[in-house]
Amino acid sequence: MLDLLNNKKNNLIGVFDSGLGGLSVLKKFLKKLPNYHYIYLGDTARVPYGDKSPEIIYSYTIQAVEFLFKKGCNLVIIACNTASAQALRKLQQEWLPNNYPNRRVLGVIKPLAEAIAENTDNKKIGVIGTNATINSGAYTREIKELNPKLKVYEQAAPLLVPLIEEGRINSPETKIILKSYLAPLKAKKINSLILACTHYPYLQKEIQKIIGKVVIVPDTGDIIAISLKDYLKRHPELNIVSAKAACDFYTSDNPKSFKDLAERFLEKRIKSISRIEL
Ligand code: DGL
Repeated sequence: MLDLLNNKKNNLIGVFDSGLGGLSVLKKFLKKLPNYHYIYLGDTARVPYGDKSPEIIYSYTIQAVEFLFKKGCNLVIIACNTASAQALRKLQQEWLPNNYPNRRVLGVIKPLAEAIAENTDNKKIGVIGTNATINSGAYTREIKELNPKLKVYEQAAPLLVPLIEEGRINSPETKIILKSYLAPLKAKKINSLILACTHYPYLQKEIQKIIGKVVIVPDTGDIIAISLKDYLKRHPELNIVSAKAACDFYTSDNPKSFKDLAERFLEKRIKSISRIEL
C-alpha cells in the first residue's frame, strides 16, 4: 500500500493512445463522466503501433503508462486497442505487481467483449482491427472465455488507420478497401461487429452501410465509459475522487498539429498541450 498512501494526490485518470484516435474514447469520458481530472497522452511521434512487433508495443506502452503514473494517475485506461491487445495482459501480470502494485491499468477489450457476450442475439461476432490487434487473438480469447459457444471472426484492416489520418473518410478508395475487408465477415453472416480500433468509429456510417442493417456496430467509446463508471464505483481505494472537470494533454510530437486535430475531434477548445519525451 505504500505507493498509494504516500501519494494521496494521485487521483487523476490517465488515458493513453498511440496517437489521436483515443480522443474518441476521451470524448465519451468527458461527456459521461465529466467531473474528473484526466490526462491524455498520445504517442504521436511513434504512431502507428498497429504494424509494430509485440515487444516494441509492450515497451512503448510501459513507457507511456509510467509517464502517466508519474503525472499523478492512479488509474490508466489504455484506449488503444493495439496496446490493449498486445501489452495489457503481460503488463498487468508482470510489470504492475513488481513496480506499482497499488495502481491500475485497464484496457478496452474486456468491456467490449463483455458487452457483446451478454447480448444473446450475438452468436456470430466479427472483429476488425490493426494487424497487431488481430494477430494477438485477444478478442477471440476474451469473448470465448465469457461464452465458448460464440463464434468470432477476426479480420485485419491495416489500411484504415492511414486513410483516416489522411482525412479520407468519405473517399471512394476508402469505400473500396472497406468493402474488401468486410466481405469475408459478410460471407460469415455475422450479426455484430466490433470496431476494435480507436480510429474506426470515424468510419462507422460507411461500415454500417456496407455491412447491412442486421449487424449491430456498438459504440465502443460509450461502452468503455460505462465500464469506467462502474469500475470507479467498485474501487474507492484508488482514491479517484471527483474533481473540477479538467483534461491536460501531452504528445510526443508536434503540439501544434496535435492541437488542431484534437480540437476538431473533441469539438472543443484545448488550452494547453505539452510535448514530452518518452
Ligand atoms: N490506436 C490504435 C488502435 O486502436 C490505432 C493506431 C495505431 O496503429 O497505433 O489499435
